Amino acid sequence: KVKDEATGIEIVLPGACSQKDFNSARKYKAKDSDVFVCSYPKTGTTWLLTITWLIVHHGEEIPKNYTDSIPTLEFDGCENIEAIDDGEFPRIIKTHFPYKLVPKNLKAKYLYITRNPKDAFVSYYFHVRGFNSVYHWKNPDLSNLYELYIKGEVTSGLFFDHLKNWYAHRNDPNVLFLLYEDVKQDPRNEVLKIAKFLGDEYEKKLKMDDGKILEIILERSSFSHMKGMSAWHTTYRPENEPFIRKGVIGDWKNHLSTEQADGLDRALMEHGKESGISKLWDK
Ligand code: A3P
Repeated sequence: KVKDEATGIEIVLPGACSQKDFNSARKYKAKDSDVFVCSYPKTGTTWLLTITWLIVHHGEEIPKNYTDSIPTLEFDGCENIEAIDDGEFPRIIKTHFPYKLVPKNLKAKYLYITRNPKDAFVSYYFHVRGFNSVYHWKNPDLSNLYELYIKGEVTSGLFFDHLKNWYAHRNDPNVLFLLYEDVKQDPRNEVLKIAKFLGDEYEKKLKMDDGKILEIILERSSFSHMKGMSAWHTTYRPENEPFIRKGVIGDWKNHLSTEQADGLDRALMEHGKESGISKLWDK
């Protein structure tokens, strides 16, 4: 758990992030050209990062170690991020920070992705199991982890608070609010939407040559292509617990009890009353 002195916010971050890293991350001043990829864990962050990277790099082949070159605000901290020289490209920065803690700049861009909490929880369960060497919970039981998840006693705090606070800014001109389910159901439309948000020049590039770059981006960000890449945390994860795991909508049905599914639905309804987040997965 780390504490932010300025806001009083306390937050649980993965063990690899110390209070020192956190303090350093809070010092980072966003540049006009920065692109932040923001999310609560397990909602499609890596997918959105990949799409964003591909758009910014005009569909170029994804380098094997490219996730290493994309800093995570809370792990890498201010000095390391400032030291990155991306040349002509905007800096892409990943973060699971809640809205309040993300460095603000009216010209920088903030992409936020979210996902049905039932699938996000199941994905988190497999994530923690796969990162046994990093998390302090060793091989957690799904029902024990559920009890912590529903109370927000997990990495990045309560799913619903994170979502609510970002959702309140969904119409800010420099925020693009995305649903994992929309990207899954209509990736073409969502990739074009992201490109347009990043800048007309990116959208134009995607459409050139009868949309050749768009096709390349769709292929290189597809589940099968990403699963086949070896760049995903292989040092930590055993082969039978891949980071790019299943990538579907509704996997919760295979893992959650009726009570657990209802509990997450109820929590969404309660938190959605005023904020409107309960309607996000109505369609
Ligand atoms: P599952 O565990 O349900 O498979 P994050 O990057 O925020 O940790 O999210 C990880 C989740 O996104 C995992 O979900 C992973 O499989 C899924 N994912 C990653 N790339 C994907 C892609 N190209 N298409 C669909 N899902 C993807």
